Amino acid sequence: HYLKEIKNVIEKATFTYVRQKKMLGLGDAILTAEPLIGNNPFAVILADDLCDCKNNGVISQLIDIFNKYKCSVVAIEEIPLSETNKYGIIAGDLIDNNNGIYQVTDMIEKPESTDAPSNMAIIGRYILTPDIFDILKTIKPGLGKEIQITDALLTQAKKGKVIAYKFNGKRFDCGTVNGFVNATNHFAAKLAI
Ligand code: G1P
Repeated sequence: HYLKEIKNVIEKATFTYVRQKKMLGLGDAILTAEPLIGNNPFAVILADDLCDCKNNGVISQLIDIFNKYKCSVVAIEEIPLSETNKYGIIAGDLIDNNNGIYQVTDMIEKPESTDAPSNMAIIGRYILTPDIFDILKTIKPGLGKEIQITDALLTQAKKGKVIAYKFNGKRFDCGTVNGFVNATNHFAAKLAI
């Protein structure tokens, strides 16, 4: 039945790819997709963040928020302050307490905990509006001399055009050995039921 699900996706979708020619950061990687996307809002999934949700997947949840606010949306979760230097961190005003929705006022890529404006971390799921491409073209290399999507999003946030949303679900950081093992155990336990 897993194969059936995969075949269903293959039937419905067209797969196309572009190459990022140099490792110039996530912002640059996203910019390479401009010819495929054009003037449309689009989703970004960083595959090393694996998410398991009870009902709708994270992107589906973000699309619901996008449809309401019509601007870029980032998925966030609270992390220990000691880990702020692994993530893009946001500051924001809570605008919908029931649904964990914030209007983003500031965002910083991988700050030390002493400089972090909160413990709310961006995870690898985004809906971006296409004006992000022109912003990315003007962004100077930031942390690690890379073009950071967080810096481009800050330009949108300053115009009140970024929402952060505490998604429903569980995330595993499969870019670390522990995260990968935890994800494997989590899905194995689900299969065993
Ligand atoms: C990227 C982003 C960062 C985000 C993270 C989520 O960092 O630059 O803002 O919090 O993904 O996984 P990376 O993990 O690629 O270093």
